[in-house]
Amino acid sequence: MDISWVFIAFGGWLLALAFLLKIFNHPKRKLPPGPRPWPIIGNLNLLGSLPRVSLHHLSQKYGDLVLLKFGSKPVLVATSPEMAKEILKTHDAIFASHPALAAGKYTSYNYSNIIWAPYGAHWRQARKFYLTKIFSSRTVDSFEYIHVEERRTLISHLFSLSGKPVLLEDHLPRFTLRTISRLVMSDRYFNGQLNLDASIITLETLQRMLDGWFLLGGFRKFYKYVLEEHKAKKEDYVPEDMVDTFFHLADDPNLQVKLTSDRLMGLIHDLVSGPTDTSAATIEWAFQELSRKPNIIDKAQQELDRVIGKERWVEEDDFSELPYIDVIIKETFRLHPLAVLLPPHYSIEDCNVAGYDIPKGTTVFVNGWSLGRSEKCWDRPEEFISERFVENNIDTKGQNFALLPFGSGRRRCPGYSLAMKSVRTTMANLLHGFKWKLAGDMKLEDISMEEIYGLTTHPN
Ligand code: HEM
Repeated sequence: MDISWVFIAFGGWLLALAFLLKIFNHPKRKLPPGPRPWPIIGNLNLLGSLPRVSLHHLSQKYGDLVLLKFGSKPVLVATSPEMAKEILKTHDAIFASHPALAAGKYTSYNYSNIIWAPYGAHWRQARKFYLTKIFSSRTVDSFEYIHVEERRTLISHLFSLSGKPVLLEDHLPRFTLRTISRLVMSDRYFNGQLNLDASIITLETLQRMLDGWFLLGGFRKFYKYVLEEHKAKKEDYVPEDMVDTFFHLADDPNLQVKLTSDRLMGLIHDLVSGPTDTSAATIEWAFQELSRKPNIIDKAQQELDRVIGKERWVEEDDFSELPYIDVIIKETFRLHPLAVLLPPHYSIEDCNVAGYDIPKGTTVFVNGWSLGRSEKCWDRPEEFISERFVENNIDTKGQNFALLPFGSGRRRCPGYSLAMKSVRTTMANLLHGFKWKLAGDMKLEDISMEEIYGLTTHPN
């Protein structure tokens, strides 16, 4: 026999042995169920115009944990409170990262902010700053006067429109932007105090840029200006806003990750863009629901009249006496979570979730919209029934996995207290100060509950 045939036969035998060893040494992984992916597109063909609805339907067919492919990338969808808990609590450390998406790269100065930052030293340090300095209860309380002043401006403006049809979406985003921009960088850029070059920015342009979210170039020019202007007055440091606080933190020579100007801009952008849309849209959704349920408005106003009376406005300290306002907000979050799908999480190690093997590098969506509509957790889930929260202490801070408007675990929203402060005092005062009725000949059944889907959802 030719010697080369011996080598070929021997090589083939070795290959077969290696293949068998691979099979027997690595038992087949048990992956979650899901539809068979197509080459190249994977399962992207199954996503419709409202992805959370498409994912909800897939979970009804395949179960609470569904494995998909977006292109060639594995994507896991968690749809029940039990599975949300597995991802955000039991395996929180493994899923606390976010995938490196192009959207994150180009809207966050190359992941320099916190919202898109991967789990790592920069995220940990920024998160610590947010929790201990920027959103500490002392800092949040010290800025209370800004909330009060801006709320009064909003209310007087609405008062001047009494009797005319008012669209809240024309007023609330501007009000939340004014409030947050004062908290973050003071209002001297917008109140004419600085003789600003008009090409830098106006509040209206900032608002338009936030609506168009992806135009980071314009933000960069403005944020650079804000940083330089703050730096120039740094000598006699008395922190007046959040940018001052960041500068103070940046001076620490022992920082693990240096706060470069891109990182500072990323963090400022989180603070300006995060709350403007979310807080305003929550109040818009609440009023959209309340206008279909005048009896809930009556009940809330009775509580306000009893506790506050007719002579004053509602203040932050009043809320321990206003439980009914709280339950309206919880019910709004249940039916209309702003992040219908929590921002994508990402596994940094292989792990096992509920008996299934989840490979490292899997993107995970927790479907917050489905959680709020789970028939197992909520009676008549499609209906807005604020009373369902009256006799229980279900909270929205991420402990109850059927209600996660702010997420849960390591990535939970750090702006929770600020957001709640803004949403409940604004809502309570709008209910306390005005009589609400539908404009013109509009009827209850004309109110649309359709949503506009985006980074957050809004009533249409
Ligand atoms: C009603 C108002 C708000 C809602 C519903 C909301 C909701 C959320 C949600 C769902 C997340 C993602 C959690 C996750 O990844 O699992 C988040 C993250 C975040 N939110 Fe909010 N938020 C609100 C207001 C605010 C405010 C007022 C601020 C700051 C001023 C803020 C700053 C952030 C930041 C920085 C993150 C990223 C946290 C991280 O990745 O570690 N949010 N928020």
